[in-house]
Amino acid sequence: MRIWAIANQKGGVGKTTTVVTLGGLLASQGKRVLVMDLDPHGSLTSYFGHDPDTIEQSVFDLFMHKGAVPDGLPESLITATSCPGLDLMPASTALATLERRMVGVDGMGLIISKTLALLWDQYDFVLIDNSPSLGVLMINALAASQQLVVPVQTEFLAIKGLERMMHTLSMVIRSQKSNLQHMILPTMFDRRTQASTQSLRTIKQTWGDNVWKFAIPVDTKFRDASMQGLVPSELDAATHGVRAYKKLLETLLEKTPNGI
Ligand SMILES: Nc1ncnc2c1ncn2[C@@H]1O[C@H](COP(=O)(O)OP(=O)(O)O)[C@@H](O)[C@H]1O
Ligand SMILES: [Mg+2]
Repeated sequence: MRIWAIANQKGGVGKTTTVVTLGGLLASQGKRVLVMDLDPHGSLTSYFGHDPDTIEQSVFDLFMHKGAVPDGLPESLITATSCPGLDLMPASTALATLERRMVGVDGMGLIISKTLALLWDQYDFVLIDNSPSLGVLMINALAASQQLVVPVQTEFLAIKGLERMMHTLSMVIRSQKSNLQHMILPTMFDRRTQASTQSLRTIKQTWGDNVWKFAIPVDTKFRDASMQGLVPSELDAATHGVRAYKKLLETLLEKTPNGI
């Protein structure tokens, strides 16, 4: 099983789009893929037609057993999506209360790791979507993952948000003694604008080899796909945005060849 987390402490940078697009591409290659929504806003959950305000069973249930994850519980929370081979573990807005509830409860940082251990034989890939806030959910995602992808929008203010995320990451890596790999992913790149080209240059100068060598272009097909609840490659596999994600997928597969 290969487990990738998609996170950045900034919203609207393409996290959910990255999860959906990579998940759809992997599923179209015949892989068994689970996408997990760890964002209390539930955008990934809404994408596939569920309402995070009213959903009965969600990731939230995993945190209600004093740090243990009962056998059979993870499976019971999973639902199929419109895309064959792609399953969803949805979020509910109740996740927003987790931080408050978890104060003083031990072992809450490994709930997602324990969950995925129970699903080990059932999926080839797990992609975890995150909220923009650092808390127990993101700590769980980072602890469970082998690879972190940090989407960053190629615009002027991007670099500040990125500094914050990379600082968080180094703190978490130190405290978990993990060897989590990470890759910065420039998104919504528009080569016709100075804001995009200059900020891409700055991102590459500042973060060097940790930045993916290409960028995901601006492509209106992503919004169209989300409005229809389709993974972007089902709407249009040849659009330039999807083609860029295919190249990204190749890079990620090279970086985590076998998983753990
Ligand atoms: N490469 C892109 N080109 C154009 N629009 C994009 C692109 N990536 C994402 N979007 C759109 O931008 C908005 C925010 O993206 P989203 O993936 O939800 O960000 P996040 O999960 O980081 O908040 C969505 O409406 C999405 O459809
Ligand atoms: Mg999102």
